[in-house]
Amino acid sequence: GGGDAGGRKSRRPRRVLVFPLPFQGHINPMLQLADTLHARGLAVTVLHTHFNALDPARRPEFRFVPVPDGVPAGVAASGDAIDILHAMNAGMEAEESAALRGVLESVLADEEKTPAACIVFDANLLAVPRAAAAVGLKTVVLRTASAACFGCFMAYPMLHQKGYLPPQESKMYMPVKELPPLRVRDLFYSSWSDQEKMRNLLARAMEAVNNSSGLVINTFDALEPAELERIRDELRIPMVLAPGPLHKLSSKNTASSLLDEDCDCIKWLDKQPPKSVLYVSFGSLASLDPNEFLEVAWGLATSGHPFLWVVRPDSVRGLDGPGFPNGFEAAVEGRGKVIRWAPQQEVLAHRAVGGFWTHNGWNSTLESISEGVPMICRPQFADQMMNTRYVEKTWGVGFELEGELERGKIEKAIRKLMEEREGAEMRERAMELKMKVADCLKPGGSSEIAIDKLVRHILSL
Ligand code: UDX
Repeated sequence: GGGDAGGRKSRRPRRVLVFPLPFQGHINPMLQLADTLHARGLAVTVLHTHFNALDPARRPEFRFVPVPDGVPAGVAASGDAIDILHAMNAGMEAEESAALRGVLESVLADEEKTPAACIVFDANLLAVPRAAAAVGLKTVVLRTASAACFGCFMAYPMLHQKGYLPPQESKMYMPVKELPPLRVRDLFYSSWSDQEKMRNLLARAMEAVNNSSGLVINTFDALEPAELERIRDELRIPMVLAPGPLHKLSSKNTASSLLDEDCDCIKWLDKQPPKSVLYVSFGSLASLDPNEFLEVAWGLATSGHPFLWVVRPDSVRGLDGPGFPNGFEAAVEGRGKVIRWAPQQEVLAHRAVGGFWTHNGWNSTLESISEGVPMICRPQFADQMMNTRYVEKTWGVGFELEGELERGKIEKAIRKLMEEREGAEMRERAMELKMKVADCLKPGGSSEIAIDKLVRHILSL
């Protein structure tokens, strides 16, 4: 009982600080984890950068603290996630400003009545470990990508030693036999030009995990058993947890969207036949060039299937706004709907949705699996290629649309997924995975066990 400094009704015994990387695919899982911890009675303070700043009004149950990130306006406006990340890490740990350490010191001084147990931070925020150590705060790392992806990070030196990396054009389809089912082209690094920078980043990321008191990965044991086992065997930290899929543990997912969702699309979906609609979205960062955009538009139009297509304002490279081809609207009238941003989890769970054309960001992949929706995969960068490989090869719940985007190929892919036997079999396997997700979310399931462990651990710090 008793109020605390914030005037809340009940005293919260401990506080956790959480610090997400300010991109949609990273904000979502961090706030989902924060929701879960809050529901277990922990107070939550959310640190957030000025870049993509979060709106405290949407989450009154959390305390929000801004962190100066030192990202120059030009870099922020470039939209280049890698450049922004570099600028951010440099800015937060710049010796002269000690910006992040300063914020942590004032947060700790301010919250004596609900003392902070630790900071849960996104694995990419490399400035956090040093700042946290300087103020005596324990760290827990959240990885928002798959266990397989982290396994690749751990294997990075081996991949060099054995000659898989740096990737060579002639070896792109060579299997990496130490990391099945991956091939060289599926590795994270194939899309990365500056190998030296990469090596440096990965070394620091590994060090951050090894010096932490726990690693949380947004996945679940039944989905990536071998990958998780390898990580647990090789890492020397007390706790490697897989409480995912995290979006299923939180009921406030829409409140972490950076763009406004078009919720009218649900009413439109209500009018479509069961499993008839293809949902098309390439996440929050990936984009198409103007010609690809045209091919996608016509591929969707000629497929004859209803579709719901997310076209963000910055979806098409080099154009101010996406330009739809002449005659497109008339061709898809009543059958196709284009929106700027979707309530994606609700869309995927809708009975009318029968397939997902996705870039295979890890969140989208998990969200699709959780609702038993099979996928057409069009990965672009980072972990997306390896997610596609698992979707196709390990789980058999989708297939890659490879090579140049061309309307005839797109149309064929859509028919394969939505009409043909192969697609139906993928849908069946996706439904089986959905049941595995349901299993892990049951009382006493793997999610609850992992969260219990995490909470106990936090309370013990
Ligand atoms: C990025 C990388 O691309 C990805 O590979 C990495 O794993 C995480 O960071 P992003 O491109 O944003 O992610 O894709 P994804 O991981 O799928 O996350 C997108 C999130 O935005 C999902 O939670 C999805 O539900 C949400 N979303 C997407 C919407 O709410 N509405 C939309 O219209 C589209």
